[in-house]
Amino acid sequence: MNKQEQLLETKKYIRQELGNESSGHDWWHIERVRKLSLKIAETEIAETESADLFTVELAALLHDLDDWKLNDNGTESYTKTANWLKKINIEDEVRHQIIDIIKQVSFKGAGVNTKPDSLEAQIVQDADRLDAIGAIGIARAFSYGGNKNRLLHDPGSKPEYHDSFEAYKANGGSTINHFYEKLVLLKDLMNTDTAKQYAESRHEFMERFLHQFFDEWEAKE
Ligand code: ADP
Ligand code: NI
Repeated sequence: MNKQEQLLETKKYIRQELGNESSGHDWWHIERVRKLSLKIAETEIAETESADLFTVELAALLHDLDDWKLNDNGTESYTKTANWLKKINIEDEVRHQIIDIIKQVSFKGAGVNTKPDSLEAQIVQDADRLDAIGAIGIARAFSYGGNKNRLLHDPGSKPEYHDSFEAYKANGGSTINHFYEKLVLLKDLMNTDTAKQYAESRHEFMERFLHQFFDEWEAKE
């Protein structure tokens, strides 16, 4: 199998695995992250650094396959990802690199430092985070909240600052709280200059949404 075929087979596999996922991690989230990752990588490469596009694309495609949010026991084992990479004959070194990237992508709480060490991982993390903010981010947050039976907003419960991954995972608060616990923080956590630029208008749109939401909540005109 050549690289193009490996990517094509991976797309088919992910479409089959996550096609009907209903918490905002469906195939189209993966496809948006794949596209954004390549776009960021191409801009970054043109400007300064070098990133391996094949690694970026493969990691983007596989980044949510073993995500704790999608697994019944809430853990990440990376076995599906590792097995798939072996099945399509990805060499050991690249397989370890891809799993290493995926481990670093996820948000783990406002107080947990998750800055990745390689440019490839930084790019996929930025792309994944861009898809969690803006209009699409808002849509995904409420879709996730609905899937997990969360309230839209609960005025009595305040957002929490999570300084461990365990505390972040255990949290079952409202979707509006999630905006303050994660989504509005992402703009300042982007790694690449390209993603920082993209994040600006998405962030602003979310701020406007929250403003309007609270006005309506208070029955303001
Ligand atoms: P990450 O790995 O950084 O969590 P994902 O691609 O897995 O990134 O997706 C995170 C998505 O799940 C976001 O769009 C986010 O809105 C949603 N999400 C996660 N936790 C919550 C929550 N407690 N309430 C609402 N949405 C959530
Ligand atoms: Ni994702």
